[in-house]
Amino acid sequence: MKIEFNARAKADIRVIFTLKKDLNGSFVGDRELLEKVGFDGADESAALFAEKGELYVGVEDENDLESFRIAAAKAVGVLKTLKIKSASIGVYDKSGADVAKAIAFGLALGAYEFVEYKSKPKERSLETIYFDAENYYGAKIDENAVKAAIDYVAIVAEGVNFARDLVNRAPYDMTPSALANEAQKVAEQYKIVCEIRDENYLRANGMEAFLAVSRASACAPRLIHLTYKPNKPKKTIAIVGKGLTYDSGGLCLKPADYMTTMKADMSGGAAAIAVITIAARLKLPVEIHVVVGATENMIGGNAYKPDDVLRAKNGKTIEVKNTDAEGRLVLADCLCYAQERVSNLDRILDLATLTGACVVALGEYTSGVMGFNDDLKESLLKAAEHSGELAAKLPFNRHLKKLLKSEIADISNCASVRYGGAITAALFLSEFIEEKNRDKWAHLDVAGPSYVEKAWGVNQFGASGAAVRWVVDWLERL
Ligand code: BES
Ligand code: ZN
Ligand code: ZN
Repeated sequence: MKIEFNARAKADIRVIFTLKKDLNGSFVGDRELLEKVGFDGADESAALFAEKGELYVGVEDENDLESFRIAAAKAVGVLKTLKIKSASIGVYDKSGADVAKAIAFGLALGAYEFVEYKSKPKERSLETIYFDAENYYGAKIDENAVKAAIDYVAIVAEGVNFARDLVNRAPYDMTPSALANEAQKVAEQYKIVCEIRDENYLRANGMEAFLAVSRASACAPRLIHLTYKPNKPKKTIAIVGKGLTYDSGGLCLKPADYMTTMKADMSGGAAAIAVITIAARLKLPVEIHVVVGATENMIGGNAYKPDDVLRAKNGKTIEVKNTDAEGRLVLADCLCYAQERVSNLDRILDLATLTGACVVALGEYTSGVMGFNDDLKESLLKAAEHSGELAAKLPFNRHLKKLLKSEIADISNCASVRYGGAITAALFLSEFIEEKNRDKWAHLDVAGPSYVEKAWGVNQFGASGAAVRWVVDWLERL
């Protein structure tokens, strides 16, 4: 489905964004009809008058761009079920192109469907959605700004949907080497340098924590290193992603109910790969390194065990208390790798579905932001807000840090107390951040919003591509 700017297009259906607050005014056409069908203008409200060629969607709060994204996602959800080829949308543009951008995102993300495994996918006839120049509210539209917004959204949303595809694929198909192949493919397409490391490299480079997690898997691990280097970059950024293509929990096996959806434990890695492709396509003036630790966490006679002691790449020893706290082990080595390999690092982010505790703390819709640098965390919160994602800070403290003490090794991979688990996980990671990089690092725990089991906002069932829009927005503001 394409989104195009076309002021005079004749479309099969016209989508009318209707502000909730306007419903009582004389402003809204078809008011009585809308009242009859109980249209209330709230989030996700829609009324289709097919014979008139009209689809009304409600905008709950016209001051909140998320209302427009939700309305647009709702609109496209209805439109794609109809036997029509085209629809048109009037741009309600009260603040530059922001509303147009929000609507375009809602359409592009809301139209996503993952049908790779359906033998008879539903037939969809919708081909094009036109933005027309008509404005129901009398404001002038800056056509060029709207066109630019549409082009921008096409690139970013394609990246988000690419990350969703990677995560939605079954774990048997999306193995570590398959993920590496996908990374290589997009790297070639967008002129990104791609280096793939195998287990021999990990062994030769002392990445025993990463290796231990991968040991019982029938699929060999991969470290994926992508580099995008523009001319005269303003900054150098590393983004490290957790790429657990499956997390069974290992010997500390997850109960069945918690194991399903763990194909999504590679969401941080998938987001990081998507972000660098988008950055390359937008030609952002920042050098970006993406490092993804791709592996499964499985069981077997050679599985790593609780009580094992592992030596990470930076020489620190780790007592394994729980094999289900595997992401931090993979990230520990990948963070060391990134700090060693990337020179003149300005910022280092990691993206990970790291803890269930983060979901307990913030709910399923919100990502956790952790780190030592308040300015960095604030800039991330701003970018989240601006991009339409939800994020909140979780604060470190000295007491939580003590919970990671080990009697036998330098540190334990799992805190002695369950409470504050998202933060203790981040504090574990901080042990693998070099002193000089402390203020350059932030950890984003995306365990909540990455995978959607009940549709919300612009997200259907399945992978959401969480952190992609967010981190792209953040990179643009550096
Ligand atoms: N991949 C999980 C975290 C997770 C949970 C992601 C729910 C998405 C949804 C992670 O590897 C894990 O299992 N963490 C444990 C840590 C514990 C053993 C310290 C957890 O959160 O329970
Ligand atoms: Zn786990
Ligand atoms: Zn995990």
